[in-house]
Amino acid sequence: MPVVVAANPKGGSGKSTTCLILGTTLASQGATVRIIDADPQRTLARWSEGKSTHRDIVVTPSAGEDLTVTIDRLQSEFQFVLIDVQGSANQEMVAAMSRADLVLIPMQAKTADADVATRAISLLRSQENLFKRKIPHAIVFMRTSPIIVTREEKQIRQNIEAAAVPRFTVSLNERTAFSHLFAYKRALAELSAKETNGLEEAQQNAIEFAAEVVQVLRKQQGSAA
Ligand SMILES: Nc1ncnc2c1ncn2[C@@H]1O[C@H](COP(=O)(O)OP(=O)(O)OP(=O)(O)O)[C@@H](O)[C@H]1O
Ligand SMILES: [Mg+2]
Repeated sequence: MPVVVAANPKGGSGKSTTCLILGTTLASQGATVRIIDADPQRTLARWSEGKSTHRDIVVTPSAGEDLTVTIDRLQSEFQFVLIDVQGSANQEMVAAMSRADLVLIPMQAKTADADVATRAISLLRSQENLFKRKIPHAIVFMRTSPIIVTREEKQIRQNIEAAAVPRFTVSLNERTAFSHLFAYKRALAELSAKETNGLEEAQQNAIEFAAEVVQVLRKQQGSAA
């Protein structure tokens, strides 16, 4: 069963948001999901202290347990295991990448963020060498406008293409609903359209993103078989 990691050494790039959107969307569709909160900031563990019916999807590794042991244990039981790691390059990120079927690199379409994402990719490449295996990965654009593509975003898209770094077709747009996930400690389907503008569009965006992740994982399994 696939292990998906959100990794980018840039703080605030959208790792926890990506994990939560993906995890709760897949769970709403009936999949069995666990998200390991491997970040000492406990962003997702705090989310799971809310009232969401999906709160059990967040797992905090027990003290002293090796992250790879936690991953292996959950992977045998659940259809999807997602891992949210700390911002900086760290031991957990290496452990998570060692087990990953797919590494998501969320980033804003800003030049400074793209520069840091390049570091995430070179770290990933050195992991590939270390483990002597390919680690499938793709950039996820975060907080983009659903309406306009800025000149900066266009340039970054071109650079990524020129560097042959894979990226998702679906971006996670800037949406109030995505930040309300944390503000209300709920899943998208549990937010109220009265309090959250553009909720339906955000839900649609989440469904399209989750579908693309599943499609990428399927394609990989097909090529590995
Ligand atoms: N698509 C989005 N729309 C609206 N707000 C977003 C979106 N993505 C991220 N945010 C907001 O940006 C902030 C940072 O996101 P997030 O916590 O997911 O980043 P992170 O990479 O996990 O950060 P850290 O490195 O600190 O763990 C949060 O306040 C989150 O609500
Ligand atoms: Mg985080």
